[in-house]
Amino acid sequence: MKLWIKTFSKIAARLLSTGVYILYIGRRQKQLSRRATYQASLDSATIGKDSTKFQIISETTKVSLLAEVYGIEGNIFRLKINEETPLKPRYEVLDVLTSKPSTVRLISCSGDADSLVLTDGKGDLKCNITANPFKIDLVSQEEVVMSINSLGQLYFEHLQIPLKQRAAKENKEDTSVDASQEDQEDLGLWEEKFGKFVDVKVNGPASVGLDFSLHGFEHLYGIPQHAESHQLKNTSDGDAYRLYNLDVYGYKIHDKMGIYGSVPYLLAHKLSRTVGIFWLNASETLVEINTEPAVKYTLTQMGPVAAKQKVRCRTDVHWMSESGIIDVFLLTGPTPSDVFKQYSYLTGTQAMPPLFSLGYHQCRWNYEDEQDIKEVDAGFDEHDIPYDVMWLDIEHTEGKRYFTWDKKRFPNPKRMQELLRSKNRKLVVISDPHIKIDPNYSVYVKAKEQGFFVRNHEGGDFEGVCWPGLSSYLDFTNPKVREWYSGLFTFSAYQGSTDILYIWNDMNEPSVFRGPELTMQKNAIHHGNWEHRELHNIYGFYQQMATAEGLIQRSKGKERPFVLTRSFFAGSQKYGAVWTGDNTAEWSYLKISIPMLLTLSITGISFCGADVGGFIGNPEAELLVRWYQAGAYQPFFRGHATMNTKRREPWLFGEEYTRLIREAIRQRYTLLPYWYSLFYRAHVAAQPVMRPLWIEFPEELDAFGVEDEYMLGSALLVHPVTEPKASTVDVFLPGSNEVWYDCKTFARWEGARTVKIPVALDTIPSFQRGGSIVPIKTTVGKSTGYMTDSPYGLRVALSTKDSAMGEFYLDDGHSFRYLHQKQFLHRKFSFLSDVLINSCADERGHYPSKCVVEQIFVLGLKKQPSSVTTRSSDGKDEPVAFTYCAQMSTLRLEKLSLNISADWEVHVR
Ligand code: NOJ
Repeated sequence: MKLWIKTFSKIAARLLSTGVYILYIGRRQKQLSRRATYQASLDSATIGKDSTKFQIISETTKVSLLAEVYGIEGNIFRLKINEETPLKPRYEVLDVLTSKPSTVRLISCSGDADSLVLTDGKGDLKCNITANPFKIDLVSQEEVVMSINSLGQLYFEHLQIPLKQRAAKENKEDTSVDASQEDQEDLGLWEEKFGKFVDVKVNGPASVGLDFSLHGFEHLYGIPQHAESHQLKNTSDGDAYRLYNLDVYGYKIHDKMGIYGSVPYLLAHKLSRTVGIFWLNASETLVEINTEPAVKYTLTQMGPVAAKQKVRCRTDVHWMSESGIIDVFLLTGPTPSDVFKQYSYLTGTQAMPPLFSLGYHQCRWNYEDEQDIKEVDAGFDEHDIPYDVMWLDIEHTEGKRYFTWDKKRFPNPKRMQELLRSKNRKLVVISDPHIKIDPNYSVYVKAKEQGFFVRNHEGGDFEGVCWPGLSSYLDFTNPKVREWYSGLFTFSAYQGSTDILYIWNDMNEPSVFRGPELTMQKNAIHHGNWEHRELHNIYGFYQQMATAEGLIQRSKGKERPFVLTRSFFAGSQKYGAVWTGDNTAEWSYLKISIPMLLTLSITGISFCGADVGGFIGNPEAELLVRWYQAGAYQPFFRGHATMNTKRREPWLFGEEYTRLIREAIRQRYTLLPYWYSLFYRAHVAAQPVMRPLWIEFPEELDAFGVEDEYMLGSALLVHPVTEPKASTVDVFLPGSNEVWYDCKTFARWEGARTVKIPVALDTIPSFQRGGSIVPIKTTVGKSTGYMTDSPYGLRVALSTKDSAMGEFYLDDGHSFRYLHQKQFLHRKFSFLSDVLINSCADERGHYPSKCVVEQIFVLGLKKQPSSVTTRSSDGKDEPVAFTYCAQMSTLRLEKLSLNISADWEVHVR
């Protein structure tokens, strides 16, 4: 049996048994693409200012497709393929690209009827198009980096008139039972069955697919969301990665089935080059990955001439989507950081979060009532544990009617918010996309009146069951619905809300209980008459977009929103944070949270986290502690638990565990200046906050597969403990020219080695990279709001060359004044030739601060200085006291009073 048949029968069997769709698109594309060869008509290509257009024709169907190749600013190529004259328009994803990408004119530098070579005339990149069979090679410095359709998997189902209609038109007998129709039904062309559900496809088969061969690449990453390893696995003897947003309670780990969100974007990395493929399609998508290892011919095999030959490894990526068009962006790098910039140029960068949202969040389904909230809030103070945000899940509402309050449990929501406000804390409440069908619920009535719900294929409002019972679903793909929904967050419309209330969008895959695969039928109808199948994966994206906009509007454009979403798509980073949904309180879920978050991070979504403690089940104290420790060093840090689990506030496990959790959370607060500065970098320069090692060490093969540790920015390496009863962990410290300092013991390690680090229950293995300077807070308050004026410290870790660099970003932490009025402070620190300098990193910003740097800690200072002096901008020198530890080579300066926003120097002689 051919491998593909084996693969798909395996998937089909498994899916049928689990009650999930069999993946007809994949089967069809495998079976039918082998018959189709496409030929490009390059002799009639038109090379325009924006794009080069030519036809491609399938030898079998003779249907003509229109291909457009664009050169886009920043070394990006875009390939669009659509039917030249479709029966009706095909869906194209809107609203993901931040603006129309600026094109660069491509010129033809050589070519004939059988080939065309396009270049932007600036760089070394060329796009070689071959006519027969149709193929594109991306060439850099005479080397083919990527080939498109070299395996002939271009597949494009053109829209057709249904067989029955065709037959009627041609006056034929009903053909519904003829052999070809049977064959078609088996492939799910016009209809797919799933349990009691029948998905009738009015538009018939409309799937698209294409292959990409990445030459010399064997490390691929991206296409979240799967509970899988960071490095993408070969799918040749297993399941394809599926991108289909689904609500999967307690999802299985090491599985390629889709869960809550999708970003159809992957990165490939090899020594000296990183590239990206962004497949802009919001319908159900499958991605197959197959690596062909490098082959070295030996003397005995091939004879002396071939002895020198070496065939590079290659990874083939095959994208298949259920509908829409082919619209693919090729990001040519060459560095990881270039690829991040290229992707962010298309889809935007991470929204700058309000500072409070980088603190710790306390959630539970559900806090019972106002009194419960009061007690939990007080518990944090009593146990001296900082936290910033209290969360309310669905039970806070009147019968799961969002924008309302359960009057018995929360009789006075404003009073409750005032209590939180008095402690500089915030409240987040949930708002899901399903709306209870209830003629007395104003949100329902108004949406119904205006025709704002998704419709079923018969034309009525789509109805499905979710938390409130029978519900309809807001059609967020409609800009008018989004505008109206945004308006629901104004303080007058949302009774009981105040400006410290922020939002959580959940169940927005959308989740439909008793629906096929717990989601919406694919033939439900959206604005513009588009079927749900066309845009399923982008539904949640639109809800978060409307919510974020609503929070901005309620503040009259002044304040930054905070919105957490469960479902997401490419570009969701612009609207807030994402979490990994309903994980389980088991060690394996703690472990997999690291690769899952790394994958989100490199696909643009820096603000991501996993439920600390595990949502489902009851973590034992040790697991809870280890999860807090990991979470404290991950971007979005929230404890959450499902209904009927035991209460697990940090102080419920005895003194010792309370101390351990307190310590982990306090470490998070100590590092807030660093976190905030990293988020600024993600916001302005698209550099991920949480980074796999290969990003920081792109030339180090050993780093490419590491996923049990990661970098925060470029300075900190963290290796959370994810095993029970661990007494040591093996930490890989990359870089042959690097030195690393243990953040706890200050021990110095040379890079390019794996070290065994002893761990106690209070150890969070983390290392500062030599050559970096990390800003910290020296005291921790009840919440971020209490720490505005508290002093700073600098942790200087010297490189092998005895130097170090770092940066620091500060603004008011909540408004858009950093953007519109340039009210921000951006400083850089450098330590060179025994002088530490604080200087301005961005002259455009003004945000004077009264805060001082009171502590400087230098790691790796080899000899004891005879004196340390500070020099202010007016040239005045002052001696300062210091302690030097010769054994650990550390220098400690305390009780300093150096203004963080001023220029100064510290001389260590
Ligand atoms: C599902 C979410 O994933 C979970 O976090 C939440 O607590 C429940 N829905 C109830 O709203």
